[in-house]
Amino acid sequence: MSYYKMPILEDSGFVVVDNYDQSNDPTEWLDIEYVNWKSSGDTRFSPLASAYGDMECDGFWNHTPPKTDKDGVWVQKNVDIAPVLTRRAQEPNVNIGRCRVIELQPNTYADAIHNLHRDDNNRLNPEGTGWIVRAFFNLTDDPDAVMVLREDRDDPSTETRVPLPVGTQAIIDTQRLWHAVWHPNTSRPRYCLITSYESGPNLESWIEARNPITRVDSPDVPADELAESQRREAEKAAKAEAPKPEVMSEA
Ligand SMILES: [Fe+2]
Repeated sequence: MSYYKMPILEDSGFVVVDNYDQSNDPTEWLDIEYVNWKSSGDTRFSPLASAYGDMECDGFWNHTPPKTDKDGVWVQKNVDIAPVLTRRAQEPNVNIGRCRVIELQPNTYADAIHNLHRDDNNRLNPEGTGWIVRAFFNLTDDPDAVMVLREDRDDPSTETRVPLPVGTQAIIDTQRLWHAVWHPNTSRPRYCLITSYESGPNLESWIEARNPITRVDSPDVPADELAESQRREAEKAAKAEAPKPEVMSEA
C-alpha cells in the first residue's frame, strides 16, 4: 500500500497553473494577525488553518493528539479578516491541512540556496490516502522573485527557478523537491498563501482546468550572486568535512 500521487506531478514535482487575477481583491494579508514562528529565512507566518484552530503555525504532529497535515481547523479571527484568501484556499475543494500566509523579507540567491529544505508533509499520513502537497499563491507583485527548486540539493543542474509575479499559482510536491524562495531587488516583503492539500481527483480537476505546465524557463542568476552562493556552499562543505576536535575524557 502506498499513497495516491497525482500523475501530473511525476514529471518535475511541480505544476504552475494560470495566474489568478486578484486586482480587485483587498490586501487581506496586510490585516491578518502574524505569529512569531520561524521557518527558513527571515519570515513571519499568519495561520488561516492550524491543527486545532489556535493562532499558531506549528506542525500538526507537534500537538496533542498529534495529527497529519490534514483536517486543518480554521482560525476564526483570521478567517473573518481574510474571507477572500480563505475562499481561494478552499477553491479546489479537497482536504486542507495547514493554511497560512508567509511574509518573507528580501534575500540573496546564496540565502535561498542555504535555506533549501524539504517538507515533512506526510508524517503520520495513513497509507492508502492522498499524498500531501502544497499550493503556493503569490500575493504580492514580486517580478524578480523565484521559487528555487532542486531534485538534488547538492546538484545545481537539477535546479528550476519558477518566477513568482503577482497571482502565480503553483502546486509543489515539497516533500520531494528541495525548495526556497529567492526574493531580490526590493526592500518590500513578499507575501504568499501556502496551503497543504491532499492529492485527489478534485485537486486534479482544479489543476486541469487551469492550463497546467510542468516545465518553466528559469531566469538567469547574475554571476556575482552565483559566485557568492558557490563560495558559501564550498565553505559549508569544507566545515562538514573538517575533522572534529578530539574530546578529552573526563575520567
Ligand atoms: Fe517548505
